[in-house]
Amino acid sequence: MTLGRTLLIAVAAVVVVAVGAFAWIAFGPGPMDFAHGRRVELTAYAGPSPTGVPADFTSTDPVARGQYLARAADCQACHTARGGKPFAGGLAFKLPFGVIYSSNITRDRDTGIGAWTDPQFLAAVHRGVDDQGVRLYPAMPYAAFSYMTDADALAIKAYLFSLPPVHQATPDNTLVFPFNQRRLMVVWDWLFNRDHRFRPDLDRSPEWNRGAYLSEAMAHCGDCHTPRNLLQALDNRQKYAGAVAAGWRAFNITSDRLTGVGGWSDAELAQYLSQGHTPGRGAAAGPMAEAVDLSLRYLTPSDVKALVTYVRTAPPIATPSQPPPVPGPAPASHREKVAASFDPLGKQIFEGVCASCHSWTGQGSLTPLATLNGSRAVNDPTATNVAQVVISGANRRTVDGLAVMPAFGRSYSDAEIAAVANYVTARFGAKPSSVTAKQVEALRNAAS
Ligand code: HEC
Ligand code: HEC
Ligand code: HEC
Repeated sequence: MTLGRTLLIAVAAVVVVAVGAFAWIAFGPGPMDFAHGRRVELTAYAGPSPTGVPADFTSTDPVARGQYLARAADCQACHTARGGKPFAGGLAFKLPFGVIYSSNITRDRDTGIGAWTDPQFLAAVHRGVDDQGVRLYPAMPYAAFSYMTDADALAIKAYLFSLPPVHQATPDNTLVFPFNQRRLMVVWDWLFNRDHRFRPDLDRSPEWNRGAYLSEAMAHCGDCHTPRNLLQALDNRQKYAGAVAAGWRAFNITSDRLTGVGGWSDAELAQYLSQGHTPGRGAAAGPMAEAVDLSLRYLTPSDVKALVTYVRTAPPIATPSQPPPVPGPAPASHREKVAASFDPLGKQIFEGVCASCHSWTGQGSLTPLATLNGSRAVNDPTATNVAQVVISGANRRTVDGLAVMPAFGRSYSDAEIAAVANYVTARFGAKPSSVTAKQVEALRNAAS
């Protein structure tokens, strides 16, 4: 073979590999493709409607129905700054190449969306295009919301427009070149937003289809729980296999028994989603607590059941780096063993501050919500969420009021947080973590 020919073949091979890799990323499966069922347009579907509000939501008031849907889609979590007015925007989304701020979506005409027409609102929710025709960034999950029906999106608009306007300008994004070129999003949208409305699956039950609509078009569970590809789009080949969201670990929620939620009963999953806590499985903190508090806890029992039915069917994917959680109280003998092999600072802090609520065995002493045993976060060898909970605290509503975990981010240094996080995983978890102060600093910076 001549050198020229060899070179040509080599170039051809590189091109084929590059095109193949591109096609692999660009034309991956959609979020419901794992079900492999026959899908039809909503208008051709004879079953009960999977869209709108559920039958057990009895109010006929259009604003209340819009509120139900706005909650199901959790518009508020992202569109409210810490301590800010609901829907007035300004929450920071910290990316490696700058910060994006969520917009004011109250009906203020100058700084919000008060002057937007229905078609303009639909273009933003379905296609990520604003009233001026400018592209939004996919930090706004329009690729998920594109599955929402026009009627449901407009019911949400009617609800937003029923609230008082808030005059508050959205801060300018700080993205660096070339990420500050919104026009480039045209390529992302072409590749990753199919702009299709929800299409029910004829081979699945009405309950599954309702759950699919809630999960994909509304609650966007995949936005946090599904890993992303190189271009930051969801990689549905690994649907629900776990990912990092705003510096928190959104764990594997596939049906894998050991490393996903395949071992949880339906009732356990339903309780976690609607209350943010399941005995023996831990409490939701951070972004999941927000999803529960602002969104999932308002879903009717039939909708929670539908979500569980749908989520259960995601194919199992194992996460070998996540050992199965250790259940039950940690034996007292373990205490000295762990203390002997770990940074004494961790034990000192746990003893001085944490043990009063979490006790030496990890069983919550004041409230069962403070039980550390069995929680995925405590058993995660990266200790990401343990460190985040210590930094920002958590609180769950219970029938007797609030169960509060105080925030220690201001009172403790990065080294102290690392030490206590490592102590907690070593003493109560399946595998000790070795978080460093530097990693804790990065976690602080990643949280929104
Ligand atoms: C995961 C976070 C997130 C959720 C959930 C979310 N948004 Fe957004 N949204 C954003 C961000 C961030 C922006 C700003 C994007 C940009 O600047 O490119 C935005 C922008 C918008 C805009 C454009 C406003 C303007 O002035 O340009 C509208 C309209 C909007 N969102 C409506 C909604 C509605 C309605 C919902 C619920 C159905 C919702 N959003 C849920 C993050 C979110
Ligand atoms: C904004 C991001 C976000 C969204 C949206 C979200 N989650 Fe989560 N989820 C998380 C995080 C982060 C955790 C870990 C919480 C912790 O450790 O306290 C979590 C934890 C969970 C857990 C517990 C897993 C375990 O092993 O302990 C389940 C189950 C779950 N989510 C299901 C869902 C479902 C179903 C949806 C959609 C209805 C959803 N989540 C939406 C971020 C999110
Ligand atoms: C005043 C009581 C109190 C103190 C002090 C306290 N906690 Fe907590 N902690 C709680 C409660 C209550 C929860 C559950 C809160 C929730 O999720 O809303 C919790 C949750 C947690 C979780 C998450 C558990 C899970 O289910 O995933 C971890 C980890 C944790 N605490 C660690 C610590 C550490 C480490 C300290 C000491 C630096 C500490 N806590 C101090 C009350 C406390």
